[in-house]
Amino acid sequence: MSLSQLAREIKESPTLALNEAARQLRERGEPVIHLGAGEPKSKVPMDAILSCAAKLKTGEVRYTPTEGIPSLIKAIIRYTEDHYNKVIDPKNVLATAGAKQAIYNLMMTLLNPQDEVIIVAPYWVSYPEIVKMVYGIPVIVTPESGRFEPTMEDILQSVSSYTKAIIINSPNNPSGAIYSEDLIGELVEFCENKGIYLIMDDIYHQLVFSDSKWTPVYKFVKKDLEDSKVIVINGVSKSYAMTGFRIGWAIASKKITEVMINVAAQNTSCPSVLLQAAAAGALGGLQNGVENLRLTLENNANIMMNELNSFNGIKTVAPAGTFYCLPDFSAYEKDSVKLSKFLVDKARVVTVPGKEFGLEGYLRLSYCGTVKSITQGIQRIKWALDPESPNEIYIGDRKFRRDWL
Ligand SMILES: Cc1ncc(COP(=O)(O)O)c(C=O)c1O
Repeated sequence: MSLSQLAREIKESPTLALNEAARQLRERGEPVIHLGAGEPKSKVPMDAILSCAAKLKTGEVRYTPTEGIPSLIKAIIRYTEDHYNKVIDPKNVLATAGAKQAIYNLMMTLLNPQDEVIIVAPYWVSYPEIVKMVYGIPVIVTPESGRFEPTMEDILQSVSSYTKAIIINSPNNPSGAIYSEDLIGELVEFCENKGIYLIMDDIYHQLVFSDSKWTPVYKFVKKDLEDSKVIVINGVSKSYAMTGFRIGWAIASKKITEVMINVAAQNTSCPSVLLQAAAAGALGGLQNGVENLRLTLENNANIMMNELNSFNGIKTVAPAGTFYCLPDFSAYEKDSVKLSKFLVDKARVVTVPGKEFGLEGYLRLSYCGTVKSITQGIQRIKWALDPESPNEIYIGDRKFRRDWL
């Protein structure tokens, strides 16, 4: 069978594959604890549901303008004013089928074959694959050991004459780290001077914990948006617990947006009008659900940190936001794929190997589930790895004895 070389090289999404593996185990009646999930469990905001239902009830479910329906564009403009203190024009906005598609359409718009995009490890699993899908070259920057934030020097060492863009995700999936204001300021200055695009993926920016602060990139942008190299990606998936609605957006100069709209017009025409209506409802409606989610996640993060700190061998940095943390398990096992498989086999706990995010020896653990799943999940991991923990444990209603340490 002859298939595209490029397409065959695109990796399966490891997180979606893990979700499927966990689902299959559960279906077989296995008491799986899923600490690999990438979506909050809270309910979709009522304003989103009502707005979506009202649109459906009209019976008029049609194509929309590619860039999005006016009410959603208006809501995104208002959101940008509220959260970024930045006034933008409707022609600076493209609504997409999830932030993922915004990033894809943007890369398609910016890159020529062989152009390089700098990606900082640990990184969201999809960045390198999306860059490759438009014939670009992902260039991975790994900060000095043990730190989740790169220095400007780390980044500069990877800049070449082929560097077209740098993509930054802060708060960060998978580490939960927020990059310092100094770094963001330096990046903006560097990119604006050198003519390199700076893509800010802010999908987790509302999920920031009390002692931490996220600063909108526009604070550092001196140029007019029309001349600026800074592009913002955002969406409703994480903060509004609307992963299944698939609505995200990009904010860029009118010139870039115009081309992105042509790209979007030829690949999806537009995101579904029902889901756009839902997103407009969520953005324009009561915001207390976001704050409740943030508080729940902060509480869950504290519980997970307490549990993890009871391990001698694990090194962990408390997350500043998101619903992930990335502890270093290398004292137990350096091969994170092997370790992750071992934990599913022995303890029925799903984690995501750090290797998928460009950091070997680590595991990404999510705390967007219940407190019970967090405490039991970490206890099971401890039982499987730590010789000092009791060697018997109940998993579901079966008693297991550890015989491998
Ligand atoms: C850093 C980051 N960016 C973008 C996305 C994609 O968001 P969406 O579900 O809106 O496509 C995710 C989802 O996991 C993410 O973690």
